[in-house]
Amino acid sequence: MKTYICEICGDAYLGTEAPSKCPFCGADRSYIKSGGEASPAFRREGDISEESKKNLLETLDLEMKANAIYLCMAGKADSYELEKMYKRLAKVELEHATIVTKFLGLQMPSGLTEQCSDEDIENFKRTVELEEYASGLYTKFAKEVGEQKIKIFFAALAKVEAEHIELIKNYL
Ligand SMILES: [Fe+2]
Ligand SMILES: [Fe+2]
Repeated sequence: MKTYICEICGDAYLGTEAPSKCPFCGADRSYIKSGGEASPAFRREGDISEESKKNLLETLDLEMKANAIYLCMAGKADSYELEKMYKRLAKVELEHATIVTKFLGLQMPSGLTEQCSDEDIENFKRTVELEEYASGLYTKFAKEVGEQKIKIFFAALAKVEAEHIELIKNYL
């Protein structure tokens, strides 16, 4: 067993080889480093521009909302597989929110409650819409922000959310 560390969320993965994606935040293999080569992931460093703060706060809201929506969908899922898939998505989005709070030096907000459909098919469609919106937003933020670390974070996140669409397409 070895220690691998994700440079996006800073969580350690213990295993015999690096996972193809971070199991916690979903970041690509390229961000997962051998323990000895990893540098500390994101945390508050100096001042963040007002524009970046605004983008990060919008991200925090969206991720908390996605977390609540996916918990609702997990509760309504018609199969064990879908329940577990939505629970994992909820945890991944919560991890994204946690990274943002580290950038901003904020406490984690309390969880929200969101409504969702009783029908899996409706929930799949809503998931795709939500993830398309998130992926587009983070792609735009990655271009806009000046701080290099925040740029990398948004680029990594845009890809994770786009992959969530691919995941749901398997069920449509
Ligand atoms: Fe997310
Ligand atoms: Fe997502």
